[in-house]
Amino acid sequence: MIPAGHTAVMASRREPPDSLDYFPTPPWATRALILDVLPALGDALPAIASAADPASGEGHMVEVLREFYPDVRASDVFDYGRGYDVADFLDARKSFAPVDLLATNPPFNAALAFVLRGLTVAKVVAILVRTSWIEGERRYSELFRERPPTLYAQFVERVPMVKGRWDPAASTATAYAWIVWVRDAAPRPLFLIPPGRKRALTRPDDVRRFAVAAETPLFADEV
Ligand SMILES: C[S@@+](CC[C@H](N)C(=O)[O-])C[C@H]1O[C@@H](n2cnc3c(N)ncnc32)[C@H](O)[C@@H]1O
Repeated sequence: MIPAGHTAVMASRREPPDSLDYFPTPPWATRALILDVLPALGDALPAIASAADPASGEGHMVEVLREFYPDVRASDVFDYGRGYDVADFLDARKSFAPVDLLATNPPFNAALAFVLRGLTVAKVVAILVRTSWIEGERRYSELFRERPPTLYAQFVERVPMVKGRWDPAASTATAYAWIVWVRDAAPRPLFLIPPGRKRALTRPDDVRRFAVAAETPLFADEV
């Protein structure tokens, strides 16, 4: 486990297989969930005391959740050497203790299964996915038709994610959104996560805690 604010991701790295789709989340994008997206739910949002990321990788999302919530669980099917539980979230034979908020950046091709299982264990399920994930007949028939998201929160800024590490200087042509389900809550209007959140929600010690190349500048104008 990486204590919040403590030196991070780098010492004991283990490379996962490509099939696990390991793309760590920039820390600011998780802070945008907590500080922008969840508050947009208004009185539909239940009290959050516990949270979990069941695909926690090296902890880029779970350690940010720990900045805000007292009880945060981390697990992943692959052992990245971070001390988190090793468990396949999609193995229905294994129980998963109920949690208030399940937040994750799931592997793209398994995200539907993550949401379907997440809805059985969490009051609030929030996934960070490429915007194109909202398309697709299977996702429509197995999820969206009967259980439309409570909130679709589109990032106006790009959220650059690269394979295997967080690179604060990366760029991307891919758009991302947080999609949130709250048990028994009616859908809300589209929410746009405004520009400027990368700069506002990136903390001075994020590079030290989360980036592989610790000398990488946080913003292009710091080069
Ligand atoms: C896109 S990465 C996200 C990592 C981390 N949540 C983050 O935001 O930085 C997807 C993660 O899902 C994990 N994963 C893939 N299949 C899984 C499964 N069936 N159960 C649990 N974790 C899984 C991978 O090992 C990888 O760490």
